[in-house]
Amino acid sequence: MSRAVSLHQVSKSYTPGVRVVQRLSLDIGPGEFLVLLGPSGCGKSTVLRMIAGLEEPTEGEVRLDGEYANHLAPAERDMAMVFQNYALYPTMSSRANIGFPLRIEDPGRDPGPRVEATARMLGIADLLDRFPHQLSGGERQRVAMGRAIARHPSAFLMDEPLANLDAKLRNHLRAEIARLTRDLDVTTVYVTHDQAEAMSLGDRVAVLRGGVLQQLGSPREVYALPENVFVAAFIGTPRINLLRGVVLAPLDGAMSIGLGRQALVLPEPLSADHSLLRVQQGREVIVGLRSEAVRLARPARARPGEVAISGLVEHVEFQGHEVLVHLDTGSQPAFVPELEAPRPMPRAAGRRRREGRVFDRLRGRAAGALRAGPVVVLEHPGDAGPGRSAGPPSGEGRLPGDLIVRTTPDHALRQGMQVPLLVDLAHLFVFDHDGVRISPAPARLPNLEG
Ligand SMILES: Nc1ncnc2c1ncn2[C@@H]1O[C@H](COP(=O)(O)OP(=O)(O)OP(=O)(O)O)[C@@H](O)[C@H]1O
Ligand SMILES: [Mg+2]
Repeated sequence: MSRAVSLHQVSKSYTPGVRVVQRLSLDIGPGEFLVLLGPSGCGKSTVLRMIAGLEEPTEGEVRLDGEYANHLAPAERDMAMVFQNYALYPTMSSRANIGFPLRIEDPGRDPGPRVEATARMLGIADLLDRFPHQLSGGERQRVAMGRAIARHPSAFLMDEPLANLDAKLRNHLRAEIARLTRDLDVTTVYVTHDQAEAMSLGDRVAVLRGGVLQQLGSPREVYALPENVFVAAFIGTPRINLLRGVVLAPLDGAMSIGLGRQALVLPEPLSADHSLLRVQQGREVIVGLRSEAVRLARPARARPGEVAISGLVEHVEFQGHEVLVHLDTGSQPAFVPELEAPRPMPRAAGRRRREGRVFDRLRGRAAGALRAGPVVVLEHPGDAGPGRSAGPPSGEGRLPGDLIVRTTPDHALRQGMQVPLLVDLAHLFVFDHDGVRISPAPARLPNLEG
């Protein structure tokens, strides 16, 4: 009943010459829950609509259970779609709304039992006689979900079905969707721009950027081994720290990655991944450190694989169960321009000019708006050259920190304190100039159990 959905080299242009989806290939297994994740405008809905048969691919093939399906009308595909704006018939009760597709499918049959079973499954049995205007947003969304489920389709296609709901209800319905699709064992393609939603729901997550697939993998894989800076920065909260570094590999000394005022000295003997960095000698790289890769502790407390640096506390963000400490370590942050500015970056004008030179080449490339090209990383988008006025909010000319570290609330931290930090090199990511991951080495097979 559940079906396999494949896209083979699928592209889509709405206007000639502008591909909003580019050569996308995906194999979604029967019963699999696949999430299409990416920022606004990256082509998620377009992909979903091509699977549904609401849009025709400009190039490439859509296959259902291995059969060419480009020409099939939506009704012939036996799929149910759930949209963000639930689209219920306003003059029909919940009962009639849920039963509607059943009556179309088989006019001779009483949809009642199926409608009631579905409503019980969704916890809306007592709402069946109400009309949409008598329901809350979350209840309406459940009715819409009921209408999709009642037909027992062979696949669900969901386009940001929870986007209009408040956070609490979203979490609740998210858990419900996970349970339902597991119980029904129906292939599901779920579109969202919310990485937390993607991580909690998906068997696999397909990360899209500018219509191009960046990475396809389990939530653990895309988090632990992001293939490029874009994926690394898009997935995970707080956002990964991205610092501009230089690989220093002298013939007669320890290898290190210079980070402005400080350096990460790579311990000997070098790990296989770190040895591979030697060929980058002298090159600029982007260092990625998730908040769990750095802890506040003195050098004497270092465990094997940890190296010491220090940072100046710029800002302490209290979150209840934990604290996010914004630190200035004397390095320069790197940015993924198309993701919204992760943090404000006020800077003195003179300093900005000096830093600017380093990434001039990349800036030129970014100006070409190569959205689907190399993942270009540069300074804060507000600094990205002339003609851009959307600069960062200017503070008192102080850096608000280049590194965010998580800690427990019992640390007595104050702005202006210099604190010791330990960086766990087992959690170090290094990306090249174009944002492609070079360490851990790209060819390394995921070893996620350790
Ligand atoms: N019918 C259309 N005609 C022309 N361009 C379109 C059409 N539909 C979408 N586009 C363009 O195609 C690109 C991808 O749109 P799509 O709706 O697939 O993005 P999305 O990832 O779903 O974004 P969002 O998260 O904002 O819903 C966008 O640049 C959009 O402007
Ligand atoms: Mg969309």
